[in-house]
Amino acid sequence: MNKRELFKNGPKITEIGLGTWQLGTKWGEPFNAEEAQNVLEEARLNGITLIDTADCYNGGNSERAIGSFLKKHPDGEKITVVTKCGRCLNPHTAEGYNRENITRFIEDSLSRLQLEQLDMVLLHCPPSEVFSKDETFETMENLKKSGKIASYGVSVEKVQDGIKAMEYGISAIEVVFNMFRLKPTEELFPLAKKKGVGIIARVPLASGLLTGRYNENTTFGEKDHRTTNRNGERFDKGETFSGVDFNTGLKAVAELKNLFKTEDLIPYALKWILMHEEVSAVIPGASKASQVSSNVRGAELPPLTDEQMKGVKEIYDKYIRESVHQNW
Ligand SMILES: NC(=O)c1ccc[n+]([C@@H]2O[C@H](COP(=O)([O-])OP(=O)(O)OC[C@H]3O[C@@H](n4cnc5c(N)ncnc54)[C@H](OP(=O)(O)O)[C@@H]3O)[C@@H](O)[C@H]2O)c1
Repeated sequence: MNKRELFKNGPKITEIGLGTWQLGTKWGEPFNAEEAQNVLEEARLNGITLIDTADCYNGGNSERAIGSFLKKHPDGEKITVVTKCGRCLNPHTAEGYNRENITRFIEDSLSRLQLEQLDMVLLHCPPSEVFSKDETFETMENLKKSGKIASYGVSVEKVQDGIKAMEYGISAIEVVFNMFRLKPTEELFPLAKKKGVGIIARVPLASGLLTGRYNENTTFGEKDHRTTNRNGERFDKGETFSGVDFNTGLKAVAELKNLFKTEDLIPYALKWILMHEEVSAVIPGASKASQVSSNVRGAELPPLTDEQMKGVKEIYDKYIRESVHQNW
């Protein structure tokens, strides 16, 4: 698979990585350690060298599974792990992003991942005040100097938070970016490119909506965020279906299928993201191993045509822009 730099002069990673929020589970279901290893193994067999995780995913089980997996393959190609910290704070406040807590979070991630150094740590969508909090970024910088982390960055809900974070020495920004979320291309991407900051595109399939496999009768598990967070009841609404109303999303998906003349939108949705050179990697999540091999097909497609790129924007403008564009 084609490789890109995670950030300017940073490690080279496959342009399609693996998201592990749902590693070994359907969202909201108990963790299945064996299935988690199957997903990670499928990623390795498909040549994936970037894994995105967080300290809070499945109560730490996502990081633990990745740690055991890395131990099983000490001699394979280097797999870069991006992890995140901060969302296990309860309450999740800006005050919590202090030196003491962050240092503890990093030690805990090192232990779960069984590593001496973390490749990259992102602040996990902190409250906006954190993006002006010197203590937080000085702590990250000191952890980098001490060798505990090789690089750091931020995961953000809003593009303005990413822009603000670039005033500090961050290496990468993780942001929702997909055919239903075009705003990052306006200011965030050009500035990131200018500063050599990498972009990790998350929620690339709009929580599965952009696979093209859902219809008006599709239901999700009782505790799945696609059931419980449709209006932002549990966390930022923009993380669920990318903030798009489900039925409106289905209408847009039907037009995307016409545009690409396919029922299987997955490779097109991922390739569309990769058409943006500022993107370092896209990290589709997979609840089972077969989804991983299905998703890497996105890297195998030829470049999309100007007409296809224009068509996606028109569909976005028609169905999505009004309810989404100003919010994130
Ligand atoms: N705040 C943050 O920093 C943040 C927030 C969200 C996500 N993330 C990261 O970004 C990653 C990706 O985002 P995401 O997982 O929320 O959304 P996503 O990648 O847009 O969608 C993932 C879901 O799409 C479905 N899917 C994926 N591949 C498929 C395939 N080949 N065939 C059929 N269905 C498929 C699966 O649904 P089923 O579960 O129904 O099988 C899967 O759980 C996460 O895993 C996580 O690492 C970070």
